[in-house]
Amino acid sequence: MTDAMVLAGRVQDLPEGRGVLLGHDGREVALFNVKGEFRAVDNRCLHEGGPICRGSVVNWTVTCPRHHWHYDLRTGEAIGRPGRRLRCYPVEVQGDQVYVRMPRRGALNGIQELLRGLAHVG
Ligand code: FES
Repeated sequence: MTDAMVLAGRVQDLPEGRGVLLGHDGREVALFNVKGEFRAVDNRCLHEGGPICRGSVVNWTVTCPRHHWHYDLRTGEAIGRPGRRLRCYPVEVQGDQVYVRMPRRGALNGIQELLRGLAHVG
């Protein structure tokens, strides 16, 4: 099963320090421009599902707008919360277009994501 290349927009339309929400195939991804480099992570905060795309960004850290969990945009790691990590997605710049590579949802992907979600409960 191949991945989908989801167009996020033109480089010049994705300003530094502000998140962009991308939706594809039922998945929500937050895309950030950090000093000219793009990073994409799952949009749902691991705490209570807050919108990471609306978080504030300082250097490589995004802060969830709801209760201020911090995430490293290079790794998805929840800072100070070992083992908690947002899924990261590859970003490709082709010309002046920015794309995020997202796996297509299939039965196997759905089961794997359900198991990942259950691992975070409790
Ligand atoms: S929902 Fe993100 S910190 Fe609570």
